[in-house]
Amino acid sequence: MAFQEKKLPANAKVGAKMLAWVDARFPLSSSVKAHLTEYYAPKNFNFWYFFGSLALLVLVIQIVTGIFLVMHYKPDVSKAFQSVEYIMREVPWGWLVRYMHSTGASMFFVVVYCHMFRGLMYGSYRKPRELVWIFGCAIFLCLMAEAFMGYLLPWGQMSYWGAQVIVNLFAAIPLIGPDLSLWIRGDYVVGDATLNRFFSFHVIAVPLVLLGLVVAHILALHEVGSNNPDGVEIKDTVNEQGKPLDGIPFHPYYTVHDLVGIAGFLGIFSFIVFFAPEMGGYFLEANNFIPADPLKTPLHIAPGWYFTPFYSMLRATTSEFLLPIWVFAATLFALMIKRNPKSKLMKMAAIVTLLVLIFGFYSLDAKFWGVLVMGGAVVILFFLPWLDHAPVRSIRYRPFLHKVLLGVFVVAFIILGYLGIQPPSPIAERVSQLCSLIYFGFFLAMPIWSRMGQFKTVPERVTFAAH
Ligand code: HEM
Repeated sequence: MAFQEKKLPANAKVGAKMLAWVDARFPLSSSVKAHLTEYYAPKNFNFWYFFGSLALLVLVIQIVTGIFLVMHYKPDVSKAFQSVEYIMREVPWGWLVRYMHSTGASMFFVVVYCHMFRGLMYGSYRKPRELVWIFGCAIFLCLMAEAFMGYLLPWGQMSYWGAQVIVNLFAAIPLIGPDLSLWIRGDYVVGDATLNRFFSFHVIAVPLVLLGLVVAHILALHEVGSNNPDGVEIKDTVNEQGKPLDGIPFHPYYTVHDLVGIAGFLGIFSFIVFFAPEMGGYFLEANNFIPADPLKTPLHIAPGWYFTPFYSMLRATTSEFLLPIWVFAATLFALMIKRNPKSKLMKMAAIVTLLVLIFGFYSLDAKFWGVLVMGGAVVILFFLPWLDHAPVRSIRYRPFLHKVLLGVFVVAFIILGYLGIQPPSPIAERVSQLCSLIYFGFFLAMPIWSRMGQFKTVPERVTFAAH
């Protein structure tokens, strides 16, 4: 197509002329229209829909404060701890920047966990939003990597020993494990090489991937349109111009709506930053105010609170627990094959899984299984769109049984998180084993339970009460 620039009268405003010049060379107005002023979002969003824009806000906070931290931080084992203390005590406003970044890290997970829970409640991962969900899961993985590597940088006791424990886990992988953990560390123990590479990944590599994934996440969402608390597809009911009858332009309606969420969030965020930046040891641990000492192992090593549900699953996987896992997995596969006996894929998956289980049960130690269980707990999230076979999306129209199961799942996840922070004990071990089974059972048995019960009729239009 030939180059075209919008013709404006000679007396048009300078701003309008500049915009026409830019629009002829860059899709500025068309993008603003497509993603803001003419992006129709369902009119029945509730407060759960604040968390997407809040995640964006925290992402910006982390990037901006991170840039200022890097100006003063030194990624060198002999200087890292002191450079953070220098930021806290000597750099003007350094304490504020550092506390915003450390609080932001934890609040990122609070916001993202709420955002994911909203997706679970309203079935936002269901067709046609599978890719939105998958990009989200990849974002979650990146966030975990980002937090794990950032945690090493202050070079405190917990930074050092946390990294030591987690990198050592990779050594449990058969055949390649020991070499792999050596390769990750760049040394036989966590050291300067590890600090340098974690710094490089934390500051540039992972944030770049994260930003790319967030863009993909939002583009995928805008391609198919947002879900809503009723799980009703608003594109199915449109007016003569093809605009959804139950949709309102994202800007100005939801930009203003989101400001309410942002104001509330910033209130809580500021309270933590100014009055409780350590949050009772959950956001910043006491042990991390002691410089890393490779000769002194802390009595109790635990990762940041946001990792503890997964860490609990790792600790729950003892050699005794392998038999229940095996029986559990075998029963599930038997049930699935019984329900779908003709599926070749299911049969092959079942046979391969059984062979791996038998091989693993006899020849590998519990640590390997723990790593597999912990990794599996995140990987399973990617498959959610294909595990849920319910005829409706939203929890509002699902049977009571589904509400109970979702409730039990959330409680089990919170208990796992709590137990992961506590020192190990025999009772805690049993409880975390039970909760791990609930976690996996919820997902793996979903193809079965998601069809069960009496579903309510989903209305054709969204339910909305003006307020
Ligand atoms: C940096 C992290 C993330 C950012 C900045 C982000 C951003 C957003 C935004 C702005 C929206 C649209 C507004 C909304 O529906 O709340 C959205 C929707 C969505 N996000 Fe995320 N997200 C993030 C992480 C995740 C994760 C980890 C998941 C799941 C694993 C996820 C799953 C979804 C889903 C399913 C939707 C569509 C919701 C619906 O239409 O009902 N997101 N996200």
